[in-house]
Amino acid sequence: MAIRLGDEAPDFTADTTEGTVNFHDWKGDSWAVLFSHPKDFTPVCTTELGRVAELKPEFDKRDVKVIGLSVDPLTDHEGWKQDIVDVTGSELNFPLIADSDRTVSDLYDMVHPNANDTLTVRSVFVVGPDNKVKLTLTYPASTGRNFDELLRVIDSLQLTANHSVATPADWKDGEDVIVAPALSDEEAEEKFPKGFEKKKPYLRLTPQPNR
Ligand code: BEZ
Repeated sequence: MAIRLGDEAPDFTADTTEGTVNFHDWKGDSWAVLFSHPKDFTPVCTTELGRVAELKPEFDKRDVKVIGLSVDPLTDHEGWKQDIVDVTGSELNFPLIADSDRTVSDLYDMVHPNANDTLTVRSVFVVGPDNKVKLTLTYPASTGRNFDELLRVIDSLQLTANHSVATPADWKDGEDVIVAPALSDEEAEEKFPKGFEKKKPYLRLTPQPNR
C-alpha cells in the first residue's frame, strides 16, 4: 500500500555499502531521507548520487541522515562507486541499500509497474525524528531530482515543525513566513514579537522566527 504523509516509516534491515543497516536504529532521533534509484551504471542515477554526496555537509548541518537504494546487488554498487567519482568528483559518502530481492522497494511501494515492472521509480521519503513520513516525492527514471529543492523543503519542514508558521511559494531559508491561520491576531502578536504584516485577514507575513 502507498505510504502517506503522517504514516510511520516502515522499519527494515538491509545490506548497504556501509554494512547491514536497521533503518530505525540507524536514523535514531535524526531526520532521514530515503531515496531510490532505478538502476546502477545508469547516467541520471550516477549524477544524482554524486550530487547528494556533494551536498552531504548540507544534510549533516540539518541533522538529516541520507540513505539511497537500488535493486542491484552490493557487488554492482561497489563497482559503480568509482564511476560516481570519475563523473562527479564526489565519493559516495552515505549508505546505498542493495535491494536485489525488493524487500525495501516493496515495503515503500517504490516499484510502479505501469512505469516499469522491475525497476524502482525515483522515490524520496523525508522522515522526521518521530519516524513519521513528512514528505514524499516521485519522479520518473528519465528526470533527475533537484536536491537543492529537497534541502529547501527540509528547511521548511523543520521550521514549521517547531513554529506556528507556514512557508509561501518559493520560500527560501531567511525569507518572511506566513503566520499559521489558526492563530488569532492577539496570539500572533504574542508569538511573533517582531510583528506581522496583514496582507489579507488570512495571510499575515512575519520575519522568520528562528533568525
Ligand atoms: C538513468 O539513471 O539514467 C536511468 C535509469 C533507468 C532508466 C532510465 C534512465
